[in-house]
Amino acid sequence: MTLLHLPATFILLCCSTFVVHAAQTFWPAAIPLAIRTPYLNAWIETQHGNLSSNEFPFFWNRVILGWICYIRVDGMSYTLFGNNGFPSNYSLTSGFVLETRVTPTRTIQVIQAGNVNATVTFLSLVDPSDLVRQSLPFAYTAVDVVSTDGQSHDIQLYSDISGEWLCGLSERATQEMTWSTTESSDMVYHQLQLAQPSPFQEADQQASDGTVYHAMALGQGRNVTWQTCEDTVCRKEFILSGGVNSHNNNDTFRNIQQDWPVFPISVNLGSVVSSNDPIVWVLGYVRNPSINYTLSGEVATLRPYYTVEYATAEAALEFAVSDFNNSLTLAKAFDAEVYKAASNVSADGKLYDMLSLATRQVYSSLEITAPQAVGEQTNNMTRVFMKDMGYDRRVTPVETLYAALPMFLHYNASFLKPLLEPLLEQQNSSTNSSPYAAKDIGDSFPVVSGPTLASEESVERKNMLSHDKDHIPNLISNTETSNMLIIALAHAQYANDTSLLHDYYGLFKKWANYLLEQNGQFPYQQSSIDDGMISSNSSNLAVKAIFALQAMADISRLVGTDNDTRYYNSTASSYISTWKSLALSSSDDPMMLTTLNGSQDTWSLPYNLYPQTMLGFSLVEQVLFEKLTVSYGQQIQPSSGDGFVYGMPIEEASGSLGNIGLLTIPKNPHFIFKGVFTAWNAFTAATFANDSVRTQLLGTLWEYASNNQTNDRFSAVYNVESGQSINGRSSPALGGLFAPLVRSGSPGHSNSSLHSNDIETIVGGVVGGIIGLLALLALLLCFLRRRMIRQIVGLSGAAGTRTEPTPFAPVPAFAPRPPVCLPSEKFWREKGTSTRPEEAPLLPSTGNSSTTSNAHVSNPLAIPLEANSGLDGSRQDELLGLRSEIQDLRRIMNVHLVGREPSDLGAPPEYS
Ligand SMILES: *[C@@H]1O[C@H](CO)[C@@H](O)[C@H](O)[C@H]1NC(C)=O
Ligand SMILES: *[C@@H]1O[C@H](CO)[C@@H](O)[C@H](O)[C@H]1NC(C)=O
Ligand SMILES: *[C@@H]1O[C@H](CO)[C@@H](O)[C@H](O)[C@H]1NC(C)=O
Ligand SMILES: *[C@@H]1O[C@H](CO)[C@@H](O)[C@H](O)[C@H]1NC(C)=O
Ligand SMILES: *[C@@H]1O[C@H](CO)[C@@H](O)[C@H](O)[C@H]1NC(C)=O
Ligand SMILES: *[C@@H]1O[C@H](CO)[C@@H](O)[C@H](O)[C@H]1NC(C)=O
Ligand SMILES: *[C@@H]1O[C@H](CO)[C@@H](O)[C@H](O)[C@H]1NC(C)=O
Ligand SMILES: *[C@@H]1O[C@H](CO)[C@@H](O)[C@H](O)[C@H]1NC(C)=O
Repeated sequence: MTLLHLPATFILLCCSTFVVHAAQTFWPAAIPLAIRTPYLNAWIETQHGNLSSNEFPFFWNRVILGWICYIRVDGMSYTLFGNNGFPSNYSLTSGFVLETRVTPTRTIQVIQAGNVNATVTFLSLVDPSDLVRQSLPFAYTAVDVVSTDGQSHDIQLYSDISGEWLCGLSERATQEMTWSTTESSDMVYHQLQLAQPSPFQEADQQASDGTVYHAMALGQGRNVTWQTCEDTVCRKEFILSGGVNSHNNNDTFRNIQQDWPVFPISVNLGSVVSSNDPIVWVLGYVRNPSINYTLSGEVATLRPYYTVEYATAEAALEFAVSDFNNSLTLAKAFDAEVYKAASNVSADGKLYDMLSLATRQVYSSLEITAPQAVGEQTNNMTRVFMKDMGYDRRVTPVETLYAALPMFLHYNASFLKPLLEPLLEQQNSSTNSSPYAAKDIGDSFPVVSGPTLASEESVERKNMLSHDKDHIPNLISNTETSNMLIIALAHAQYANDTSLLHDYYGLFKKWANYLLEQNGQFPYQQSSIDDGMISSNSSNLAVKAIFALQAMADISRLVGTDNDTRYYNSTASSYISTWKSLALSSSDDPMMLTTLNGSQDTWSLPYNLYPQTMLGFSLVEQVLFEKLTVSYGQQIQPSSGDGFVYGMPIEEASGSLGNIGLLTIPKNPHFIFKGVFTAWNAFTAATFANDSVRTQLLGTLWEYASNNQTNDRFSAVYNVESGQSINGRSSPALGGLFAPLVRSGSPGHSNSSLHSNDIETIVGGVVGGIIGLLALLALLLCFLRRRMIRQIVGLSGAAGTRTEPTPFAPVPAFAPRPPVCLPSEKFWREKGTSTRPEEAPLLPSTGNSSTTSNAHVSNPLAIPLEANSGLDGSRQDELLGLRSEIQDLRRIMNVHLVGREPSDLGAPPEYS
């Protein structure tokens, strides 16, 4: 390289690093590993940005799952995940996590293990347009290795699972299990199950009736070994010899914790510079039948949907094992779509981060069942059921389905039909005479017992203010009835499918009349399950009911009943006038949503205006959205120290936040709610009439999503001050984060596309050393242009300007604004790499990562004391010692983990 070339090269290096390689900025407290169903749901903690790969994976409720993965490099073993507590005199140490990335379908960790980079990809495909794929209860773990010093290294990989996947914590000491290992020309798999499964039963959120599979493809000239033995035996064998003994299974069936049987599959790559193809394990948790379904007293059992294609679990497994490459391709395309859509709304990537964390979480709360039912009366249809994960075992909780609605609308609105069908057919049956909608169809997932009516409840579980709970009749019927009407119209509009509206018109009309006759305008003495507030005259609740009446008007129109259309339409119009006069503060500056009881003491988050944005209603004038946007925008102020760091509370927050802005309001100690609802904040962001305020509010949510100072996962409800989870860990309610992508008719954006294409052409057309410079320039241009657009567009960029709902607006009608600050596909190609941002190479590790790892390698204590001694006479004692250490560790971890999460067991959230 001549001196002349230096500057250009320098620019190329520094700028392409700046543009293409983003250092990890998103640090969630836990990341999903294998999550496909409510019962195949494994996570790992990354609290405090933990960079050691020495953590136990855990089930979503924080109970440890035995699952471990080692890589052995030149005789030294490193954990890629899992912690088995081997004493320090073994040649085993933890790997160092160089980077963690989360996409909607994948969690990817690059782990340094000696002179090797191991990239671990946890793939849980999401494909809501293919019910066979979406219902397959299998997840992939793929490892790619590459030498970091250019030299060949002797490499072996190992992964095992224990029986802890088979039942909940409280039963593990007593449940006996059985197992077998099957080898065919294509694959080898371990299969394990409880000796006495209990159909449709759970213990501690884990099912007691499933079969676990651990599998790997054979062939490809790979040296694969497997075994079944006690954990210490198999793991030690691998650490010492780099493989296990496929001909030495211990098939003495016993209980899960007795000499801990584990089920490893190991691969010996020999001496290589890199793995040409990834090493892929398939992990499955299969239940068939999956749902016990009672309709009008008739019991049927429903099978998982994939059985329409694969009659047996083995056939499904065989497909899954053979499909990794294809699944990965689909996953990358899926992720790229989400990336593009999210970047249109929030170019800083923060929305994409949150959607990446939420997507698998929401889809993993579902069981998709096949049309062939085993039972007499149950007719022939596809049904999907949602578990109220993060809270309890309710089946298809309507308020959670409503919160998650934007995600379903975004990905594939047709998927809502099988989710709604069971709710509707259950309530349409002759045995149901309730005038209002049920809140769910069972309280013991996976048993669907029938509609649960709110009035049957004496205590509202979720978020009741304790001092009020005896005074409230019909606690949540109003909210759930409104939710159902809004969801039904949303499905019809976005899926272009009015079949449910026709089939259940009578039911919808009954519900609308309930809202009208009893509760529509001013829901006295009703708790909204949205927010748990016991407030008579909740303005949020009232406006949702009015939108529900407007939804009924549109439902009537789609079904062609003109008289009803006029009636509900005019009722909604007149109610909204009253509502506006009462619910909005009299002052324009600021204009806040107040309660309806005349006092303007407190403000609420206006999240229930979102149905207008989503469905294209015109009940609330655009100018009011603009005023609210300005006023709430002034409240957020995350950087001022006085504002909200982690999103906005749904009612005015506690006084301890200090000056909360323009409002000087006496604090009412009985009316302070510190909980922040993730979905309702995203709904609010979607209604904002200004992109920068929207981005600002989403940014505060991201601060919470990326806050790893506590051990809590991204939850549905959390504390506004501390950012600590209150409730709803792993809840599907996080689907609400898609609200900013699901806005009907968003004017003012569409004419920006030309300019952006110009930029892409420029960026795409250049080559060589100036690419980085131009990319910088493009960024600058983008930035300036965005500012210009903002100034031009002003506050007109959002909801509610359509005068008439468009019945069949195809998929989210969010205005096609191109990804202004993102290099185009062409850019990546011409730059000579097909690498998209989420595939981009990582930054060189900063700081002391390599020293840490090298320290492990050269640590003399890490050399095994008995490296060549094999299993000698003292083995028994030694293993006993090891065993008790491991058991202690597990017990401590489990007590610790469970103890930290009391509210999953139903304790009330925090109020002050
Ligand atoms: C396969 O791997 C095992 C375990 O590391 C090793 O003992 C064996 O020699 C290998 N076989 C071949 C053919 O390389
Ligand atoms: C299999 O494991 C059990 C439990 O650890 C043990 O009692 C038994 O001796 C083992 N069998 C063989 C053949 O090693
Ligand atoms: C189930 O529905 C499918 C398609 O709707 C139909 O072809 C089939 O005949 C039905 N089977 C029964 C048993 O009703
Ligand atoms: C299915 O549910 C019904 C009613 O909830 C119950 O009576 C029945 O025992 C359940 N069946 C099984 C196999 O658990
Ligand atoms: C909606 O469905 C109708 C009838 O099924 C069809 O004619 C129409 O083209 C569809 N509209 C869109 C936008 O797909
Ligand atoms: C139209 O609806 C109103 C209100 O439901 C009802 O009073 C009236 O009889 C209906 N008219 C017809 C022609 O159905
Ligand atoms: C609904 O009511 C609004 C306000 O009164 C009116 O402008 C609109 O035309 C009505 N739409 C229908 C379909 O009746
Ligand atoms: C290993 O990973 C580090 C950090 O991501 C990266 O800088 C380095 O280039 C990688 N090495 C190889 C050979 O891929």
